Amino acid sequence: MTDRCNFRCTYCMPFDHYDWIDKREILTYEEICRVVRLAVPLGVRKIRLTGGEPLLRRDLPDLVRQLSGIGGIEDIALTTNGSRLGEMAPALRSAGLKRINVSIDSLDPERFKRITKRGDLDEVLKGLFAARDAGLKPVKINAVIERGVNEDDILDLVAFGREHGFVIRFIEYMDVGTANAWRLERTVPKKEILERINARFPLEPAGREGGNAPAVDYAFRDGKGTVGIVASVTEPFCGTCSRGRLTADGRLVTCLFSRTGHDLKARLRSGAGDDEIRQWMEAVWSGRTDRFSAERLQAIRSPDGYDPEKHDKIEMITLGG
Ligand code: 5AD
Ligand code: SF4
Repeated sequence: MTDRCNFRCTYCMPFDHYDWIDKREILTYEEICRVVRLAVPLGVRKIRLTGGEPLLRRDLPDLVRQLSGIGGIEDIALTTNGSRLGEMAPALRSAGLKRINVSIDSLDPERFKRITKRGDLDEVLKGLFAARDAGLKPVKINAVIERGVNEDDILDLVAFGREHGFVIRFIEYMDVGTANAWRLERTVPKKEILERINARFPLEPAGREGGNAPAVDYAFRDGKGTVGIVASVTEPFCGTCSRGRLTADGRLVTCLFSRTGHDLKARLRSGAGDDEIRQWMEAVWSGRTDRFSAERLQAIRSPDGYDPEKHDKIEMITLGG
């Protein structure tokens, strides 16, 4: 959507200054819709809009409306930091957005500010409730748990979600991009997150949505909803991952941990016909061999260990979650 963001989450894009991609290099809504139209015959049914912060892109509801008019697209979701959601939730809903993920890593205003550097928890919570009131369903909260930073937010977030009807998805702190200087010691493993929750709110396994979602779900035994955990570090799911990613500047990326992408924009802007582009996308996708998370886990378990600095990756802010 865009690589721009008004937050600077320490685990994502902590630098104060970042050279944003030139506006002319960012795909237009027309170009994005063309790509989606061509991807439907290849099997794409679900779209997720991410960033950067997608709501910083002008008139985003227009894009949502255009995408929801494309035959074959069954589901449109959005991942946002929530800062602009208060004002935009109703327009997004009426444009055809069905569900939403809002990133909230702490319910303590000061800690929230420390993690996001620029975020205002109050504003984000307003956005969260506005999304619910606008009829978006489900409204999920994404929380990245980092060792020594917010482990003790786990139970607070769960209690908050249960009280207000939000689904919480905990995400293992991942080695994505290079700006965050990730270290394995900083990842709180799924097992530990689960144990902490289960000790207070007993859980039972509920599987993966659709069999291939990144999150594994657990249901509260008292029937008060579910919680999900995305464990791409300790339980890689490369084998069932079917996500293609389109960067803001028009690269087709076949894995969240890719070093680079495939230049789709060059083809879109060189006057290539629909058939040619579709065949090219199909070839890129069928040539895909990525299983980076699985390889990382093998390396972590090997005698030499895993060195994050030896693997360049596209920043999350360019790639989207
Ligand atoms: N590890 C795990 N999750 C991350 N996100 C951003 N960077 C990381 C990281 N290093 C999450 C954000 C947001 C989603 C798009 O990805 O919190 O919810
Ligand atoms: Fe922005 Fe989201 Fe990255 Fe935070 S995690 S810096 S809100 S893109």
